Amino acid sequence: MAEPVPEYEERSYAVARAGVPSHIAIIMDGNGRWAKKRSLPRVAGHHEGMKTVRKVTKLASHLGVNVLTLYAFSTENWKRPKMEVDFLMRLPEEFLSTFLPELIEENVRVEMMGYHQNLPSHTIEAIRKAKEATKNNTGLVLNFALNYGSRAEIVDAVKDIAAQVAAGTLNIADITEEHITEGLMTRRLPEPDLLIRTSGEVRLSNFMLWQLAYTEFWFTETLWPDFGEEALLDAIENYQKRNRRFGGLKGEEAN
Ligand code: IPE
Ligand code: IPE
Ligand code: MG
Repeated sequence: MAEPVPEYEERSYAVARAGVPSHIAIIMDGNGRWAKKRSLPRVAGHHEGMKTVRKVTKLASHLGVNVLTLYAFSTENWKRPKMEVDFLMRLPEEFLSTFLPELIEENVRVEMMGYHQNLPSHTIEAIRKAKEATKNNTGLVLNFALNYGSRAEIVDAVKDIAAQVAAGTLNIADITEEHITEGLMTRRLPEPDLLIRTSGEVRLSNFMLWQLAYTEFWFTETLWPDFGEEALLDAIENYQKRNRRFGGLKGEEAN
């Protein structure tokens, strides 16, 4: 028997027709609190959060989103207890071993941005395999930010520029915004149009500081494991009502 058509399906056609953000970035937060509310260990929340990753990826792909960047582990998250860190480092393998066939079927291309340094080899290997298996896919780019930190990334871009100046291949007067942009891990991606953060926290936690300069923000109290298709559609519908000016004027205002 065919699966029943989910309720959000009709709504998602309307959302897709109205024009979806090209790049959605999400700070997936609140897994620990989700677990605590249920008297479960924090890691149970991380495990449950994987289901949301699957739902959100699938819907973003169906809607025609080009890039979905998911903040999975920050350069500051190493401060957490070793047991929790170890668990988080196993999740990419578990997620990909279950969902890779589905991602391939959906024409999704897996990418990662973050420092390989300090990541366990099993984590890197799982991502390498997924990237390899999906490298020719032409649909949604699913970009995991893993061991990612925006300040470190900007420092690296600056070092790169300094090295070019020291080598005499770049004049200080010729340094532009593009030199920074080109030095970031996102160099091949468009800037995010919509940033979502779950769990009620209203901060960036060292996420894409440069890239988010003109991004529209959506903060929701919903905890990441409770976030789903309807919640993503809420965020996109709200985004569609925004008036992005980029410092200029739009429509009526410009006359
Ligand atoms: C987000 O959930 C996942 C990661 C940061 C890896 P948290 O683990 O931060 O959950 P809370 O914020 O403690 O509820
Ligand atoms: C940000 O969440 C990092 C990820 C979602 C991966 P945190 O839970 O680590 O952020 P803070 O510590 O509350 O700022
Ligand atoms: Mg948190």
